[in-house]
Amino acid sequence: MALIIRRRSLVRILLFFGFAILLRFLVVSPASPASSVASRFYTSDPQEIQKHGVLDLVTRGEKALDARKHKFLQVRMGRDEREDLFTGAVRDGILDYWERFQKPFIEGHETSYMDAQSVLTSIEQLLTLNGWVAAKCPTLTRPFGQNKDEDAYDDLANQGHLYYIGMVIHSADHFLTDQLAVIVQLARRLGTSNLFVSMLDYDSSDSTETLTDLCEAVLTLLGVPYRIRRVPSMTVDPSAAYYPLEEAHTRNLALEPLHELLVKRDIKFHRVIWLKGFTCPNDILESIRISMVNDAAMVCGMDWAEHNGFFIFSDRWRTRDINGDQFRQSVSSSLSSSSLNTVPPRDTVGAQRYAKHLPFQVFCCESGTHVVDPEQSYYAGITYRAGPDFYNATQPDDPPIRLPDDKCLDSTQAWFCRDLWVWKAKDGMKDVEQDLEVIETTTKQKRTVDPIEPVADEHVLQRRQVVPEREDADANAGSDYDASDLPQNDPPPVSEQRLTAPNAVFLPVRIMVNPRCVTTYAGVSHAQLALDLFGPPDRENREDELKDQDVLQDWEGAPDSFVCQEQQTTGGRRASKNQRRLGFSIHQELEEALSQ
Ligand SMILES: *[C@@H]1O[C@H](CO)[C@@H](O)[C@H](O)[C@H]1NC(C)=O
Repeated sequence: MALIIRRRSLVRILLFFGFAILLRFLVVSPASPASSVASRFYTSDPQEIQKHGVLDLVTRGEKALDARKHKFLQVRMGRDEREDLFTGAVRDGILDYWERFQKPFIEGHETSYMDAQSVLTSIEQLLTLNGWVAAKCPTLTRPFGQNKDEDAYDDLANQGHLYYIGMVIHSADHFLTDQLAVIVQLARRLGTSNLFVSMLDYDSSDSTETLTDLCEAVLTLLGVPYRIRRVPSMTVDPSAAYYPLEEAHTRNLALEPLHELLVKRDIKFHRVIWLKGFTCPNDILESIRISMVNDAAMVCGMDWAEHNGFFIFSDRWRTRDINGDQFRQSVSSSLSSSSLNTVPPRDTVGAQRYAKHLPFQVFCCESGTHVVDPEQSYYAGITYRAGPDFYNATQPDDPPIRLPDDKCLDSTQAWFCRDLWVWKAKDGMKDVEQDLEVIETTTKQKRTVDPIEPVADEHVLQRRQVVPEREDADANAGSDYDASDLPQNDPPPVSEQRLTAPNAVFLPVRIMVNPRCVTTYAGVSHAQLALDLFGPPDRENREDELKDQDVLQDWEGAPDSFVCQEQQTTGGRRASKNQRRLGFSIHQELEEALSQ
């Protein structure tokens, strides 16, 4: 009896060891066998990010984003594969070149080592890819010595965090090569397998498609994980499109791999970087650092557009200072005047900090390239959305009647910011165990809500009209279009003040603008802009003392009202914008969410 039991367990132990040895063999044997066996285990769509398999769990501890090992980390979706006139000729040419000039050398004994060597050499060369504009970045004026050699951002690189780069491209081929150069520069600094690049081509009609082929080739060679995807437009007729909805749709699509990587492979990213327009690599790294030291939910740059010979602050549609006011359309040299009434942010603290080139808190921003903490946003379930009640002007119904305190039909970013404020308030209540009753009885008011004073800065603009002159251009194409075409006057103060808890009692969201991170568009003279913004490089002695102030000590609550600039109807990006001042009550938003 005892013998039988012993024998049985012996067999089991032997089986276990056999299996373990097999596993070990699969895992330890050089490079490919493990993954090729693994890929036989998974038979589903190779484009989809694969769930962890048994083998992945065994090999844990290696780099999570190893694109050379996992095919599904480098995926191209929606490429136009239709045959055309030249397909046959091109295919024959490639085959001929391969057969006569490549294959014989790869297979030849004496020459085979050269092949591997030439790949390595091209990777080396690609890593120095600088682009046209990006190559000039180190020469541009920056305060606090961002461009000095000793600051190589080693602190960021050594932490080994994962970064997610999101891009939505709509006919913006003039940026793409430089944006690729910026990505390569970031990859070189942060590590090629610490990045994931998500490029979404939204129905571009220029050479974006060809340039994304180039991006694909470069990223593949470098082993940077990516998903490059082309999607058709939401509407066939551009005039039937609702722009904020398109913004939300494309942003969410660009974030799909972020969520897939979390669900299927348990990979979390430290920060999401949205690349827009053109931004220098060092400025992006600096914004990441500012985001980290402040534990900020979002840090935006500032974008500047060329306008009749000067540069103006551009993204006024989506940016609001901490009082809910829109930024001024200031010129880049506004700091040279002694008055703070000419700088972009209108609130006092923001203006003072802007004048010292320090990051300042805002209610909302986008302003070109911006850095988002997914832990305080996407991973918490916040997605991009747009107001559902827009009027589809291509349909025969009458436009709806709008009430003064209807929800604001503004950009998807503005919705995103409000969602961040409401989420943070809810999250904070969970921690502090405050309930709505307590809040209702609190009357603490941090800020006196003055009625909006008349605009004092418009003299800056008097010399010219801010009417767009690009009637024939595709307004949807990646550009500084958001710089202009806004209503000129401030809206009147909001009529009635609601009798709920003021927003100041809730936990503040840390949304910041970093004025040292400059985003530009085509036609901008970077050297001049940098000089305008930061002056000649002679402020060395103040640097250390000021830099300590990068960390903001006092965070404000949300404003109780904000300037709402909305698109109420379809008509693409050019649809006219309305403006009103609208109350914003976190308390009320929370109650609405509860009652649903
Ligand atoms: C507006 O209506 C047209 C025609 O029915 C439709 O094709 C289009 O998708 C609608 N636009 C939006 C943004 O829903």
